[in-house]
Amino acid sequence: MNGLSGKHILLGVTGGIAAYKSAELVRQLRQQGAEVRVVMTAAAMEFVTPLTFQALSGHPVHLDLLDTGAEAAMGHIELARWADTLLIAPATADFIARIVSGRADDLLTAVCLACDAAVAVAPAMNSVMWGNPATANNILTLEKRGVRILGPAEGSLACGESGPGRMLEPAQLVSAVTALFNTGLLAGRRVLVTAGPTREAIDPVRYISNRSSGRMGFAVATAAAEAGANVVLVSGPVSLTTPARVRRIDVESAAEMHAAVMNDIAYCDIFISVAAVADYRPAITAQQKLKKTAATLSLELTRNPDILAAVAALPDAPFCVGFAAETQAIDSNAREKMRAKNLDMIAANAVGQQQGFDQEDNALHVLWAQGEQQLALTGKAKLARQLVAIIAERLENTTRSETKTRQQKVVRIHAKDSTQDSRSTPR
Ligand code: PMT
Repeated sequence: MNGLSGKHILLGVTGGIAAYKSAELVRQLRQQGAEVRVVMTAAAMEFVTPLTFQALSGHPVHLDLLDTGAEAAMGHIELARWADTLLIAPATADFIARIVSGRADDLLTAVCLACDAAVAVAPAMNSVMWGNPATANNILTLEKRGVRILGPAEGSLACGESGPGRMLEPAQLVSAVTALFNTGLLAGRRVLVTAGPTREAIDPVRYISNRSSGRMGFAVATAAAEAGANVVLVSGPVSLTTPARVRRIDVESAAEMHAAVMNDIAYCDIFISVAAVADYRPAITAQQKLKKTAATLSLELTRNPDILAAVAALPDAPFCVGFAAETQAIDSNAREKMRAKNLDMIAANAVGQQQGFDQEDNALHVLWAQGEQQLALTGKAKLARQLVAIIAERLENTTRSETKTRQQKVVRIHAKDSTQDSRSTPR
């Protein structure tokens, strides 16, 4: 398996001799399945040409903050939003100082300031510069802000001296970036995710459904698996590839989704209901194709089971996260759904008018009893990772007695597992 499959890595190259190694870094990141875009500073271009990075990344290199043509194609905000991880390699002492002080006077500093993804910095400089208290303070500040510092390594340096200051080798940087995605936040947890639409048959060839593509649910399943969880994904009809390390169960109707969820839920700590489940189905499914004999046709619909509400009502319910797809009064409607279905958390999104359903990007307002968090418009993969981090944090913060109950449940389930066949073990 390619450890960075489908990940968007934005590589910032600054002006140090180690920039030549970043060309190999791009090659290795792509070998691991990542999509790579490169931003170079003016100083970096003194060491390596943009053409090298363009050829290796397969994309034009981004150079200028004030180039109207480039900004129109993919400006600094779009680049920042696109990135799952921003890696600065090599990062010179000067560039590190500039991001510490929040500068935004060239493209790369502006991207750093606008980026809400994980940021990693691979310093490369003379060992005396690395040891200088000014640099040491800057590194400390970045670490406090959550920036990952990768290296430097010790060894002979381009300046002829020897000591700490060498940029990590490309293979080491690829491993470190891969590790950024494998957070372990849900290690040992069992998670059930529903995704996609359901189809409610009218006759053998027609059905009622909706515009869900499954992307949001598949992204949540991927993020949960990367966070170390055992994930089962119950999916309606979609044309998406099963995420790595996820056990997928395909269903068609709401009734089938309900049955599949109930069959597996006893083994789960967390239920995330992303599917756009049809609320109603035809009361009768015609056995033969309906003929167009009359001018009008009325269909009688009957209510489908509410899967999420049913799971939340279980005596030993898992941590339940619902999604609310709303076209108006988003927050109040979502809060009402959270209350009515007795959920631990709800993620509200605006839908319709090219929002939410069948889009690459989405934005969420995550609500729980004691708090809320806005997740700005971004790719669904990145959004899903942010949501999973919130879920992991909320789960961690549940009261002691709740935690105890869950732990007892996990122990009980694991004991049960040892007597079950492999069907109950998500892969
Ligand atoms: O699949 P994509 O194209 O990526 O689009 C993503 C999405 C817009 C479908 C997703 O982000 C989303 O909003 N999913 C929930 C859609 C929905 O059905 O919302 P709702 O407000 O109608 O339902 C509230 C909650 O109850 C949801 O968690 C839903 O899964 C659940 N539900 C609803 C009805 C039902 N019979 N059973 C349920 O479990």
